[in-house]
Amino acid sequence: MGMRALKRRPTGFFARADLPTRGASIPTPSSAVREDIAIRDRRVADRVQKFPESVIREMTRIAALHGAVNLAQGYPDFEPPQELTEAAKRALDGGYNQYSITWGARELRDAIARRAKAFNGIDADPESNLVVTCGSTEAMMAAMLSLINEGDEAVIFEPFYENYGPDAIVSGARPRYVRMAWPDWTVDEESLKAAFTDRTKVLILNTPNNPTGKVFARDELRTIADLCTDHDVVAVTDEIYEHIVFDGARHVSLATIGDMADRTITINGLSKTYSATGWRVGWAIAPKTLANAMRRTHDFLTVGAPHPLQIAAVAALSLPESYYAELARSYQAKRDVFVRGLRDAGLDCRPPGGAYYVMAEFDRFPFDDDWAFAMYLVERLRVAVVPGSSFYGDPVEGRRYVRFMFSKRDETLREAISRLADLRDVP
Ligand SMILES: Cc1ncc(COP(=O)(O)O)c(C=O)c1O
Repeated sequence: MGMRALKRRPTGFFARADLPTRGASIPTPSSAVREDIAIRDRRVADRVQKFPESVIREMTRIAALHGAVNLAQGYPDFEPPQELTEAAKRALDGGYNQYSITWGARELRDAIARRAKAFNGIDADPESNLVVTCGSTEAMMAAMLSLINEGDEAVIFEPFYENYGPDAIVSGARPRYVRMAWPDWTVDEESLKAAFTDRTKVLILNTPNNPTGKVFARDELRTIADLCTDHDVVAVTDEIYEHIVFDGARHVSLATIGDMADRTITINGLSKTYSATGWRVGWAIAPKTLANAMRRTHDFLTVGAPHPLQIAAVAALSLPESYYAELARSYQAKRDVFVRGLRDAGLDCRPPGGAYYVMAEFDRFPFDDDWAFAMYLVERLRVAVVPGSSFYGDPVEGRRYVRFMFSKRDETLREAISRLADLRDVP
């Protein structure tokens, strides 16, 4: 059994390097070993020494080594709608193979603005409020680089999507974490208020949320909006799962609350809604001056997102409403089957309200921490998950959880559930 104790208590996101990262008694191939993250070469910049490679993508590599069902990294094992792939082929043959305008092809910005109005209720002028990026990942980094001066503080809800840690480090922000509390991921209003200081520059919000599945309710968003307004803070909202919302709930964009449109950068992209994570097309909607700042940063980061895929993205954004209804219905059915399977296997979890992840607690099993449990799952049961510590500022806070994702075909999920049923053999 891969049980071991933490050697010493890590003290923050930056201290994840302190974690021993694999089960002590289960031999793994050397490529799976995470030693210390420090790159022992003085030519490497300090900032890169402060965060490890993505744990999520690392688990994907380990999954491949063990022939595991990969429920670690958040991408589907099914194809995007055919309308998209056909539109992409047409675009490749249709003269879109050179740079687009760096902040995005006009056709796509028009389509994004139409959709933002129709679905989110956000007014966006394609000429002044939009920046098309290489995925929402680049949009988030470009937003942070455009807003943060060294030492500014960023309020971040935790557990948080792994990228926000390096986004903060690279941009020079100091994270102030606000806990979403297990098991319902509630936010304590007093803790939220206490996180705002005179150094707060940015609040990062992700709803529907990865990894918790929390869908922020309108009254929670109102509280966040009031705090941002009172403290003159910019909200950067990652709404990439906006269409994957369950049980009749509806996604609310923070930018539509009060005057928040004047201080919100709304980030989105094709990856999740259209099952096209490899296309790398995302965007940000921002007030004019902030969009202008982001355009500068974005231009020198990547110049632009792939032009033909931007043109094909217009077809995605023109799909009928029935597409989105079916997307949510299909993911809700997967959620129901998957959560039942996890519970039957002895894991404790709540059905997420949105997105396609489940955080599960494994207290019932005799593993010392999340890495020991995750390594047992990938090596013995051949199911790859993400250790919960990757989602917390202080990794110790995540040691009782692992994250599963369920953006997979039904047969893949059935196979994963049948493998997880072997947990019953764990004493
Ligand atoms: C919350 C969240 N934001 C952003 C991304 C990445 O999005 P993109 O593919 O648009 O860069 C992910 C992917 O898992 C995610 O979970």
